[in-house]
This record gives sequence, C-alpha cells and structure tokens, in this order.
Amino acid sequence: MKVLVTGGAGFIGSHTCVELLDAGHDVLVVDDLSAGFADALDRVGVLTGVRPELEVLDITDTAALCGLFARHAIDAVIHFAARKAVGESIEIPLEYFHTNVTGTISLLRAMREAKVRQLVFSSSCSIYGDTNGTLLDEQSPSAPANPYAWTKLTCEQLIAQECAYGEGMRAINLRYFNPIGAHPSGVLGEQPRGVPRNVLPYLAEVATGEREYLQIFGGDYPTDDGTAIRDYVHVVDVAAGHVAALNHLEDADEPQLFNLGTGVGTSVLELHAQYEREVGRELPYRITERRRGDVPRLVADCSRVQDAWGWHTQYDLAQMCADSWRFMQRNPEGYSR
Ligand code: WQD
Repeated sequence: MKVLVTGGAGFIGSHTCVELLDAGHDVLVVDDLSAGFADALDRVGVLTGVRPELEVLDITDTAALCGLFARHAIDAVIHFAARKAVGESIEIPLEYFHTNVTGTISLLRAMREAKVRQLVFSSSCSIYGDTNGTLLDEQSPSAPANPYAWTKLTCEQLIAQECAYGEGMRAINLRYFNPIGAHPSGVLGEQPRGVPRNVLPYLAEVATGEREYLQIFGGDYPTDDGTAIRDYVHVVDVAAGHVAALNHLEDADEPQLFNLGTGVGTSVLELHAQYEREVGRELPYRITERRRGDVPRLVADCSRVQDAWGWHTQYDLAQMCADSWRFMQRNPEGYSR
C-alpha cells in the first residue's frame, strides 16, 4: 500500500517507516520538522535502500494537506504527528489541543475529501489514568490525568464519529505504553529537540555527559522502590505493531482499539539501574518532587493484540537500553538536520 505517515520524521514514525518499507509498502512522510529530523529519513534510506519522500507542512493547514492528497494516491494513513510529553502538556495545554486535536480534525477532513478511508492512529496508554496497580486491558476505564492524555482520548472519539458517519472509514487506535530504545543498527534512534521531556532520552544524555544528573520525579509512590512504574516497550516492536495494524484494517468494520506494551512494569530506578549496567558506570540522579499529571503505574495487558494478530514484543528492557546506548555512542552529534 502507499502509506502516508504523519510525523514520520519523528522517533516512532521514522522507525515505523523502516518496518513499512521492509514489509514492501510505499511510504510518504508529512512532517513540520518542529520535533522530527529530515536526517532521520536519510537514515531510513540507509537501512532500507529507500529514502521516504518528505512533504514539510503543518497538518493543521487543511488546504495544504488536501493538496498533498491530490498529488499522491494514498491508500492508508498512519497518524503520529502530535505533541507528546505529559509534563509539557500541563504547561501549554492549548498548544496540545491545537496540534493534536485540530491537527487530527484537519487530517480527517483532508482524508474525507480525498476518499482515503483507512487510518491507524497513534494513541496512548496515558488515557487510562491512575489504575491502582491493575494491568490495563482495552476495557479499562479512561481517566486522562493530563492535557496530553485528554487530547488522545478526544482524537479517538473524533475518529469513532468519522467512522460512524464518514462513508466507509476504517480505523485502528493503538494505545502504546512507553516506547524507548533505538533501531539495533545504531543508525536510527531517539533525539528530542532541546531538553528531553521523557525519562529515557534524558537518562541517555546523562550517560553522554550532556546532562549532569537525572531528576527522578517522585520517590514516594506506592511502589516497591517508591518511583513510578511504566511499561517500556521497544520502539521497533511498536513500529512492527503498526504494520500489523495496516494488515488488519479491512477487518475493522468498527473502530478497533489495541494496547501495545510488554505487560512488564519497570520503575524509574530499575530503568536507571539497567541503563547504568549498559553504560558501565554510575549515572548520577536525584529524587525530586512528583511531576504534575503523573500516575504511579501504567502497565499493559496485551493479550487482545496477541490473540487477534499474534503480535508479540521481541525485545526486553536490556535490549531497549543496549540499543539506545549504541545509538547515542554512534551519533555523538545526533541528527544533522
Ligand atoms: C516516565 C516516568 C516520570 C522524566 C510517555 C510519553 C507519552 C506516552 C506514554 C506514547 C514517569 C519519570 C520522566 C524525567 C523522571 N507514549 N520521569 N524524570 O509520562 O509515561 O509518557 O509514555 O504515546 O507520549 O510521553 O513518559 O518518560 O515522561 O515518564 O523521573 O526526567 O519517568 O515521572 O514516572 P510518560 P516519561
């Protein structure tokens, strides 16, 4: 299929481009490069032999997006383009509403005009909110605890409405947990612009010496070591999940929802210890106040996607940290543009 990947120059998007091309699909990327890097697509070209075409535009510009659909025969869309940091969403909620919600409405309008009726949406486990320690399946209640999570739930609901009234729209929502790591080749990885908002990229920059120490937000959570627990999942496993979703869109008579995670919970201190083992030296940290919008624990029950598609994660936490560190070592200057 010819797949439009919005946000394809970003972390998860670029890794998904590799898996799509390796699976024989054609890929077109649209990205405003506010967070992503054109160089990441050059790296996709190195890995697959095909450098995806990039159209640089803001997806909230519906006219520009309609022009893109008019120039390319798109079969399906994978929609990553969004702001995605829980902490930042509390500081600038209206920017999150604009980029994430207005951007999705704009995409749905352009898709409807172009009669492109297949969508895989990058959603998030943060929709589940505080779970008092239970494993989360797709029927777990939604309780978004921050503006970012609220935008993802709102987009899922907008997509469901478009599927109900939008003439033949088919959609699959993937609620992923915490994607981390990098392509095992060391060629492609995660590089946030500015100060990393997520724990793993920040820890990686402590390891390179760019950051002095990791702030661990909260040591008084009701967990074994007092730090919050997340379900870290290898970015390549998440990327493969998107290819699997494309292969099942024709079955999606109703909008479908799948968790992508490992089912394994890891605390911040455990993640820190694993990364230290990988790097081979102490990585300084300080335990500070909790971050607003955080919850103690988010761990997936992924039995639904395993039963439906046979999707299983291939990589464990050690591999995630090893692949992240390899990328950092091989790319000390990061992406060039
Ligand atoms: C993880 C833990 C922090 C930074 C992410 C993505 C979101 C979604 C879900 C896909 C928390 C702690 C963090 C730091 C820290 N994924 N932390 N020091 O908030 O779970 O959300 O996964 O859609 O897009 O943002 O990830 O890495 O920010 O936080 O102690 O410098 O690490 O408090 O407990 P989060 P995160």
